Amino acid sequence: MEPDLAYHQASALLEWQVELGVDEAICEAPVNRYELPSKPPGSRTAARNARPAAPEPAQTAEPAVDPVQEARRIVKGTDTLGSLSEAVAAFPHCELRQGARNTVFSDGNPAARVMVIGEAPGRDEDLQGKPFVGRAGQLLDRMFEAIGMGRTETDPDQALYITNILPWRPPRNRDPQPDEMGMMLPFIHRHIELAEPEIVVLMGNISCQALLSRRGITRLRGNWADVLGRPALPMFHPAYLLRNPRAKREAWSDLLTLQARLNGS
Ligand code: URA
Repeated sequence: MEPDLAYHQASALLEWQVELGVDEAICEAPVNRYELPSKPPGSRTAARNARPAAPEPAQTAEPAVDPVQEARRIVKGTDTLGSLSEAVAAFPHCELRQGARNTVFSDGNPAARVMVIGEAPGRDEDLQGKPFVGRAGQLLDRMFEAIGMGRTETDPDQALYITNILPWRPPRNRDPQPDEMGMMLPFIHRHIELAEPEIVVLMGNISCQALLSRRGITRLRGNWADVLGRPALPMFHPAYLLRNPRAKREAWSDLLTLQARLNGS
C-alpha cells in the first residue's frame, strides 16, 4: 500500500471506530488467548525450571522534544534556500509529513521582488511537489499575469517567488492547526530572510494568522502590513475567489495597489 493511502485509510478506520463508540485503546498488539503456556505456572515442573528473573533493562527516558525550539535551532544552521529546503524536508516533528506524498517547498524565481505566501498544499500540489498548481493556482497565475507578473519570469521585476505556510498537505484539506503552524513558523521566517523579497503578498486568512497574528481577511486585504520589516499585502486567497467570484473586484484593486508600490508610485 502507498504510504499516503495507508495514512488516510488508517485515519478513516480510526474515525469509524470512534463513531461506533470505541473510546479506549487497550493494547497495541492483539493477544492470542489460545496460545496457552505449555505448563501451568503453578505446577511443580514449572517451579523447578523457574529461573531467577533477569533484571529489567534500565528505562532511559527520552527527553521530550519541543518542536518549536527544535525548528528554531535547525533554521539557524541554514544559510541558503537549498539548505533550508533540505532542512524542511527532514523535519520529523510535524505529523502532516507522514501523510504527504511530497514536501512542497517553493516555485518561481527566488530573485523575484515579490514573494507570495499561501496556506498549504492541496491534492495537486502534494502530487506535483509545487505550490499553487491546482485550480486556485491557475487563477493565481492569471491574476498576476494581468499585471505582467508570473512565476516563470526571469526578470526580478516581473517574477514571482511562491511558497506556503505549511509544506505538507493537511488531510482532506482541513485548515492547518495552530501547533502545526507554530512549529513551521521558524522555517517560513527563515525562508523570507533568505529569499529577501522586497514585498510579501499574504494569500488568505491562514498566512495572515501565521505571519501577522491577525485574522479577518475582509478587513485586512488591501492594507499594507509589516512582516519581518518588509511591506506585506494581504489579499483574498484565490480559492476564496473561485467560490466568491464577486470578490475579484477587490482582488483586482489589491493587484493594482501592489503594482503601484512596485512602480514606486
Ligand atoms: N492553496 C494554497 O494556499 N497553497 C497551495 O499551494 C495551493 C492551494
